[in-house]
Amino acid sequence: MNGKPLVSIVSAGLSKFGKHEGLYARELFSYAAKEAFDHCPNLNPKQDVKAMFIGHMGEAYEHQGHTGSAVADWSGLLGVPATRTEAACASSGAALRSGIYAVLSGLADVVIVGGVEKMTHRSTAEVTEFLAMASDYPFEQFHGITFPGLFALMATAHMNAYGTTQEHMAKVAVKNHHNASLNPKAHLQKEITVEKVLDSKPVAWPFKMYDCSLITDGASCIVLTKPELASKYTDQPVQIIGSGQASDTIGLYERKSLTSLLSTKTAAKTAYDMAALTPQKVQVAEVHDCFTYVELMDYEDLGFCPVGKSGELIDSGETCLGGRLPVNTSGGLKAKGHPVGATGTAQVYEIYLQLTGQADKRQVKDAKVGLTHNVGGSGATATVHLYRSEN
Ligand SMILES: CC(C)(COP(=O)(O)OP(=O)(O)OC[C@H]1O[C@@H](n2cnc3c(N)ncnc32)[C@H](O)[C@@H]1OP(=O)(O)O)[C@@H](O)C(=O)NCCC(=O)NCCS
Repeated sequence: MNGKPLVSIVSAGLSKFGKHEGLYARELFSYAAKEAFDHCPNLNPKQDVKAMFIGHMGEAYEHQGHTGSAVADWSGLLGVPATRTEAACASSGAALRSGIYAVLSGLADVVIVGGVEKMTHRSTAEVTEFLAMASDYPFEQFHGITFPGLFALMATAHMNAYGTTQEHMAKVAVKNHHNASLNPKAHLQKEITVEKVLDSKPVAWPFKMYDCSLITDGASCIVLTKPELASKYTDQPVQIIGSGQASDTIGLYERKSLTSLLSTKTAAKTAYDMAALTPQKVQVAEVHDCFTYVELMDYEDLGFCPVGKSGELIDSGETCLGGRLPVNTSGGLKAKGHPVGATGTAQVYEIYLQLTGQADKRQVKDAKVGLTHNVGGSGATATVHLYRSEN
């Protein structure tokens, strides 16, 4: 493909992330869709949109599956072919892939991709159980391990192999909380310190509360079209120039490595090759930081630093706003929040803002090339996408 645009993003919307008492997921999604439609006056949604792919992980939260059709109806798009995509926390990363397939196939010129999850009306114990359903049942869930526990095993292996410390992880939390404090749509807008992270209550060693992502309600929505049609809808399209997705064993215990995700590395290679880009060309990235350690592992798997050197990278400050490669300018899953089905396309929303100069206090100066990275489960799915703006 040599860096040619696969599809163009012509609009995007995001609900406020946080606690939305009394709202159903379908209503939450309509807020994200409304923002995307309002910002694209030349789009006639009912007439132009030919398909919808909606990431949604769990029917247990609201006793409600069949989310594609439900959100199509509540967004004023009754009748449009609408399909739910499910790949655990990468459900809307997978929705994006499906949208790209639909546009590239020629079957649909304009496609909505997005995602939604309503979680906060459930207790933390219930949410933890529902999330764990995306891990292996007979060998993991059955024995009581949860996602904090699975990712803690990976963190421990990395600490042992490379000397990574709890302080390195805490610095990821401090950075992402700072970024979220600049994002009015983030779940939490409070700065924290390394000491506060280290003093927070233990969850699964080495993780403390502030190492964990937030249980959040939220929805996200992106409008995709063919590059040759983009000018009909906007004079600031963002081009998707690389798309990778890979799978791995659902069980962590079957993997060869505990210190990296093969799915991320494979998806990243596919996306970089398609875009004809190297990791050094990325100027802003939203990566999957469901736990602070995971952002460090992502730096290595995405090629932002050599293997074993992610601790040095976070120490250097290069991934902070104002650094060489700002990561998770939105606040990430850590502080913007992680409404699991919505996360993948919420990352795209941030990169869309950054590459169109709309990220306000979090704006990365002159950003032209961006990356998103979304992980499902303990890494049985990963998606990586690369973006370029031409303005
Ligand atoms: C860390 C965790 C266990 C804390 O849950 P909890 O102990 O029930 O905490 P509560 O919901 O009672 O919240 C207590 C306070 O801590 C804050 N808080 C909760 N989780 C937080 C987090 N992860 N980071 C920062 N603050 C958090 C709340 O905002 C609340 O603050 P307030 O008292 O000012 O309102 C929960 O956030 C969690 O499970 N996170 C991980 C989710 C996950 O596994 N996602 C999928 C990854 S694959």
